[in-house]
Amino acid sequence: MDRIRIRGGKPLSGTIPIGGAKNAALPLMTAALLSEEPLTLRHVPVLADITTLSHLLVQHGAAVTMVGARTPHEHGHALKIDARNIISTTAPYDLVRRMRASVLVLGPLLARCGEARVSLPGGCAIGTRPVDLHIKGLEALGAKIELKQGYIHAQAPPGLKGAQFIFPKVSVGATENLLMAASLAEGETVLVNAAREPEIVDLAICLNAMGAKITGAGSDRITITGVKKLHGAEHDIIPDRIEAGTFVLAAAISQGDVMVSDCQPEHIAALTVKMQRAGAEVDETQAGALRVRCTGRPKAIDMTTEEYPGFATDLQAQYMAWMTVAHGITFVTETIFENRFMHALELARMGATIRIEGRQAIVAGEDQLMGAQVQASDLRASASLVLAALVAKGETTIDRVYHMDRGYERIEEKLAAVGANIQRITTQTTVHAGAEA
Ligand code: UD1
Repeated sequence: MDRIRIRGGKPLSGTIPIGGAKNAALPLMTAALLSEEPLTLRHVPVLADITTLSHLLVQHGAAVTMVGARTPHEHGHALKIDARNIISTTAPYDLVRRMRASVLVLGPLLARCGEARVSLPGGCAIGTRPVDLHIKGLEALGAKIELKQGYIHAQAPPGLKGAQFIFPKVSVGATENLLMAASLAEGETVLVNAAREPEIVDLAICLNAMGAKITGAGSDRITITGVKKLHGAEHDIIPDRIEAGTFVLAAAISQGDVMVSDCQPEHIAALTVKMQRAGAEVDETQAGALRVRCTGRPKAIDMTTEEYPGFATDLQAQYMAWMTVAHGITFVTETIFENRFMHALELARMGATIRIEGRQAIVAGEDQLMGAQVQASDLRASASLVLAALVAKGETTIDRVYHMDRGYERIEEKLAAVGANIQRITTQTTVHAGAEA
């Protein structure tokens, strides 16, 4: 099991390029199941989650191949997914439990094959994360669904039928599943109170390139006119807004001067507005790039996570890390997931003062964090520990880095390239990357 070792205290300086979005890539990969013709996706990040989903697609009968050569320092790659033959409509527990996004094969398989059997994903570290909205939405499109022995059995032998579905609660995953399923349903589907995340817009753009008829993606009302078949397409995945936000915060917490390039600044406006209020300079100095400068500790600025365009739950832990060294007290409220403060305990091991009261974390800013041995509990929690380590005095070792490898491509290389003293240590204590200063 790899660990990351960081010696804090170095202001970051230079440029960090952002890769393709994991949370856009995963639904886009499952969209390939909707067509007999291949879908080619560019800027797919090289991450454990992408590999897990590739295994699942292969298991359904798709051929997943990397397109073009990739140099050792290139980030991302192009994937061609050819789902001409679907040989199985079952997504087994063994693969689904490893990654919740696997449930996104449900809509495409059901729409294309008239049936799907997908394992229930089960709980996960950041909360119960049910799939009832995915199920209710597909039932509204005419699917017959039963839950048996831990599996969702969905059937629609005569095909899905367009309908109106009002989401009682905004759900990114359920909106994605319904968008894909409705693309091949008969007639018109209207999704009301749909999620508005950029990843939804990206999925709709790709589906339209495959021949779907979708309007309104990016608003809370999406209209889909079903078509009989979708064809192949090529699609460029949007930049990862969570990776961008993480590095923008890394620049600020290290009190550095960094250009975060190849991103879409408007996707993280909720974060950058807060950061400006907290005292960081964040400017879009050129299209698709943010220059971040910060001197000294930030001012405490409260934050509440919300659906897009609000503050992303996936940036809550990293923002909290910055606020642990703020002047004053910060109230961080998590409204999306009920158990997403596990990083607080580990941050406390580094000297942070955080009290959890239900869905609120109260952070009393400290002058200085101290390096410590800490443990990652989930993907974004691990990123928050990296950020804290960048500003902490002395050495921090982060265990269970495999959580971070699910969502950040070569994070240690990107941070080392802007001057961080960071190394990955394997069990054989082999150094993979990083500048030892
Ligand atoms: C969520 C985030 C997304 C993030 C992803 C990975 C939101 C709105 N969504 O997406 O930005 O990238 O996690 O961390 O911020 N829910 C139900 N029933 C369902 C589905 C969801 O009750 O069938 C609830 C969830 O428990 C949660 C909320 O709805 O409280 C939003 O969940 P959803 O958007 O579906 O989660 P993800 O798609 O995983």
